[in-house]
Amino acid sequence: MLPHKQIESKLQTAVREILPDADTSVVLVRPCDPKFGDYQSNALMSLAKTRKLNPRQLATDVVAKLDVSEVCEKVEIAGAGFLNFRLKNSELKKTLESAVRGEHLFFEKLSQPKTIIIDFSSPNVAKPMHVGHIRSTGIGDALQRTLRLLGHHVITDNHIGDWGTQFGKLLLGWKTILNRAELERDAIAELERLYKIINAECDANPARLEQAKQELVKLQSGDHDNLALWGEMVRLSNIQFREIYNRLGVKFDCTLGESFYNPWLGEVVSDLLTKKIARESEGAVGVFSDGSLPPKEDPFLVNRDGEWIADPALVRKSDGGFNYTTTDLATIDYRLKTWSPDEIVYVVDDRQSPHFKKLFLIFARWQTDAAKKVKLVHVGFGKIMGDDGKPFKTRSGDTVKLGELLDEAEERAYKIVSEKSSELPEAQRKEIARVVGLGAVKYADLLPNRQSDYIFSWDKMLALQGNTAPYLLYAYARIKSIFRKLENPESRIQNPDLNLAAPEELTLAKHLLNFGITLEAVAEEFRPNYLCNYLFELAGKFTSFYENCPVLKAEDEATRNSRLALCDLTARVLQQGLATLGIETAEKM
Ligand code: ARG
Repeated sequence: MLPHKQIESKLQTAVREILPDADTSVVLVRPCDPKFGDYQSNALMSLAKTRKLNPRQLATDVVAKLDVSEVCEKVEIAGAGFLNFRLKNSELKKTLESAVRGEHLFFEKLSQPKTIIIDFSSPNVAKPMHVGHIRSTGIGDALQRTLRLLGHHVITDNHIGDWGTQFGKLLLGWKTILNRAELERDAIAELERLYKIINAECDANPARLEQAKQELVKLQSGDHDNLALWGEMVRLSNIQFREIYNRLGVKFDCTLGESFYNPWLGEVVSDLLTKKIARESEGAVGVFSDGSLPPKEDPFLVNRDGEWIADPALVRKSDGGFNYTTTDLATIDYRLKTWSPDEIVYVVDDRQSPHFKKLFLIFARWQTDAAKKVKLVHVGFGKIMGDDGKPFKTRSGDTVKLGELLDEAEERAYKIVSEKSSELPEAQRKEIARVVGLGAVKYADLLPNRQSDYIFSWDKMLALQGNTAPYLLYAYARIKSIFRKLENPESRIQNPDLNLAAPEELTLAKHLLNFGITLEAVAEEFRPNYLCNYLFELAGKFTSFYENCPVLKAEDEATRNSRLALCDLTARVLQQGLATLGIETAEKM
């Protein structure tokens, strides 16, 4: 077992001896300021608080039952009841050596994996994927990779928007103004054109709107022709989605679009009506506040001029059509019946936060028992801004298409790579540029705290200095180049005797050890930025090690091998870390 896991498990046992009823799953250790130690636990303070115990006394009692002397120096109780642990150097050395032998890479599969469904990306049919889709797609992909790495059973589902009122307009456009040649050339652009024209016509002309509605009614009632045309639009969109996902290296276990849930929507609404969770209002059906929450926290209420008024979640429109919420309720029901997940995670724009708040509350009222068994989580994120402080757009004010953005990333990276490494053959420069360009876009999106808006900046994300993908990729390639200088690269480090004498070696070694804890923190809080920052620090610590501790020119063979082993471990953690963020690496840059 890895040292932090050993400490954690012994600490949990000690806590149970003192507080037999405590939920020890929250008793965790985390890396801390080296001034205090290597790991810290603050769990005892909250346990003491809820039980009205003196936290320092609780800490003293727990420590008396705690024997971690195999891996740690004497445990210290600090401040209001923190426990500080300092790893024994012998334990650090042992853990690194087993990693060199390939027994682990500083993380372990969880002993109690969960079944987790991640709903992410979820673009809409007949619309091009735009820059905003990088957020849900990239964050969702990094999270699913992290959760899988830790051993969870993950099901990824792309809940594409393939149903809804827009298809009335699209069908009308297809039947009246379709340009076949354009459809062949760029299907999504043509569908977008149809939609824009018909939408504008409908705004201006009620008769046109009525025609679009008729097309929608025909589609919804199963008209053969309209269903076939709709199917064609979905097929064409999926081709475009697939192209982008292939480029981004993103895969889904299933793609069950909104249309998949159609057969159940009527039942959902009648069930909600029977159970008096929903009621009719002005011809529509909606779910209203049940008064169980204070108004400020109640998503079914909004404040207008100091007054709380109803803001229901509609589940059936006055024309009989169903809503986004209805589909999402049917979706939860289906997922629970199909996979019995412990968690369903929605990686969706924060602007949809009111929708998810309502959805989760309605589900809890609708299926009280089932709701207790599943954790529903909205993993929200902010917007991408231009440097003018407004949502990121092209110069002409259009949304930035994701495919074109990725092209530009590769082109810009190609220029940089060609300047830096003009000696490499063109094909290789192109391949490096692909890795660097895509990596830069993904990394820049994963790095900020996901809920904050961030400013899209080519110069910043492609810089070779600073917290960027190119910097990390370069650090990785530099380590790889050390090994290329060896006569027999595989001959060293089979069975190293690590010698962690210099302070830079110790600091690097300890940071390597924190890889697993970092992955756990990412998985717990759904925050890939923790991993970005960890990798950035790793590269920095590697640099100071490399500047202060000669590797190839080390004073003797043993030191050289020990340092080579540190280089190798750093490269492996960088590579695995970047891969977990969905970023490829290049051996040369
Ligand atoms: N298609 C939706 C949109 O583009 C996102 C769907 C998110 N997932 C969900 N189950 N609601 O806004």
